[in-house]
Amino acid sequence: MRIAVLASGRGSNLARILEATRTGLLSAEVALVVVNRPGVGAETIARDAGVPVVLEDDRGHPDRGAHERAIARALAAHGIELVVLAGYMRILTPFLVGFLYDPELGQSRIVNIHPADPARYRGPDGYGWAIATGQSETAVTVHFVDEGLDTGLPLRQETVPVEPGDTLDTLRARGLAVEHRIFPEALRDLVARLKGATPCVAS
Ligand code: GRF
Repeated sequence: MRIAVLASGRGSNLARILEATRTGLLSAEVALVVVNRPGVGAETIARDAGVPVVLEDDRGHPDRGAHERAIARALAAHGIELVVLAGYMRILTPFLVGFLYDPELGQSRIVNIHPADPARYRGPDGYGWAIATGQSETAVTVHFVDEGLDTGLPLRQETVPVEPGDTLDTLRARGLAVEHRIFPEALRDLVARLKGATPCVAS
C-alpha cells in the first residue's frame, strides 16, 4: 500500500507514521510526502527518512483547482493508493476528493486527523477551543475526508481529558501523544480493509 502524506507544518504525525512502517505496525510504504510550504518540519522529516518530497505551494498556483491538479499529478506519478492528511491546513475541493474516490469503500481514500470531536468543534485549533471554552474533556478523531471542514465519517476517536490547570501547551502535549498512537493504528486497520481492493489512483 503506497501512502502519500500531505502536511503543512511540524510533521510529528508524519514521523510516527514513518516509524510505524519501520516497526511493521503499518504494512505500507510512505512513498511520497507533499508539503505546501517550503522549509517546514515535515519536509525535513521526509528527507531524513529518504522519502520523496514534492513542494506544491498553493500560493504558486492561480487557484485551488490548479494547486490540486498539481498534487493529483504527483500522486498518480508515485502510484499512490491512500492519502493521509497530517496537519495539512487546506480544505480539499471536490476535484481531489473525487480523484481518490473508491466506490468499493464508498469513501475517498483520504484520511485526516482532527484534534477534537468534529461534532463539537471543526477547524484547526481544537486544543485552543477546548481550553478557551472550558471543556472538561475533548477528543482526537481520525476520519475520512470529504469536501467539508472536518465533516467526513469518523474512523476512530479517543477521548482526551482536560485537567484542571491545563494550558494550551500541556493539553496539546497530552492530545498529541494520543494522536501519535491512534493515527498509525487507524491507518493499519484501514490498510487491512483496503488490501485486495482495486487501487483507484495507481491503476
Ligand atoms: C495535529 O494536532 C493534527 O491533529 C492537526 O494538526 C496538527 C499537526 O501536527 N490536524 P503535526 O504537524 O503532525 O506535528
